[in-house]
Amino acid sequence: MKIGMLTSGGDCQGLNAALRGVAKTLYNEMGKGVTLYGIRDGYRGLIEGDYHEMKPDDFSDILTLGGTILGTSRQPFKQMQRPEEDSEQTKLDKMLKTVKKAGFDCLVILGGNGTHKTANLLRENGVNVVTLPKTIDNDLWGTELTFGFQSAVNIASEVIDSIHSTAFSHSRVFIVEIMGHKAGWLTLHAGIASGADVIVIPEIPYSAKKIAQAIEKRAKDGKRFSIIAVAEGAVSREEAAMSKKEFKAAREAMTYPSISYRIADELKELTGQEIRVTIPGHYQRGGAPCPADRVLTSRFGVAAAQLILQKKFGYMVALQDNHIVPVPLTEVAGKLKTVPPDGELVKQARALGLSMGD
Ligand code: F6P
Repeated sequence: MKIGMLTSGGDCQGLNAALRGVAKTLYNEMGKGVTLYGIRDGYRGLIEGDYHEMKPDDFSDILTLGGTILGTSRQPFKQMQRPEEDSEQTKLDKMLKTVKKAGFDCLVILGGNGTHKTANLLRENGVNVVTLPKTIDNDLWGTELTFGFQSAVNIASEVIDSIHSTAFSHSRVFIVEIMGHKAGWLTLHAGIASGADVIVIPEIPYSAKKIAQAIEKRAKDGKRFSIIAVAEGAVSREEAAMSKKEFKAAREAMTYPSISYRIADELKELTGQEIRVTIPGHYQRGGAPCPADRVLTSRFGVAAAQLILQKKFGYMVALQDNHIVPVPLTEVAGKLKTVPPDGELVKQARALGLSMGD
């Protein structure tokens, strides 16, 4: 059996651990009956026919290694079926050609939302695929957890933890901007885990006045500092009421490097206080996977290999009720799992006295 493996989209912790989980299980079950191929830089390698044979040794000592040994790239789904500039072929045509030429019996694809749309497109075009859910955003439909998420929560929480001492010393208000454009899972979890005072996520449009009130109430209660965890995709109430077109224009006209700086200015205006902004950025995606992600990726890897052994294709492995289960790609592709604004976790955060900025 010939199996091509690729990692696509933004990297995260645990990609190598997941590849290792798939490879070890397949080698243990099939021995020389399986040959694994590494496709370089995600779908880019599949489009350009850039792949290489891998050996069992390639999967040794990579359990704790950050990033991806295969490389990755972003290849927008909407461009997959458009003819390429240099030929009449589309990227999809080229990928199908590579699969045929290489003689891949199956593709193992590790990725997030965009990656899953393309994986499903490949499936619709007759390619056997099995996928694994990765992203620090935890916003993939069909799985309670994606790998990378728990490692990123650890990092984002450590950042907010550290900000506490300097915020206390100087009696300052800090904004810590956490990754997540469309979903606020990372901000919500890190905010709760590290005792942020205000949590602003894309799913709950914020009011600068309400954030200011929360900060002022803390000051009145004798608290020396406040910490606001803001998702990079945060939107104001005014923006939430805009059409898509208006919103796009408003954001293009925004002169701040990111939303946190705008909120900082709004709060300065309302409270008269200096607000400091800290942005850990891609640091949240880097380094070794945390032990919880090492376990999760190992479980996902075994489950993906077992699907291949059963010749059960067209599924993503997912975590549901603490079991690893296959979910059809048709159910996953194109669907985002965002934070329910009235969900249990948000209610619990509010019960703790946290402001959600609304
Ligand atoms: O999808 C993961 C993620 O880290 C998001 O949280 C973030 O918005 C985005 O990727 C950043 O993308 P890039 O690495 O292309 O800057």
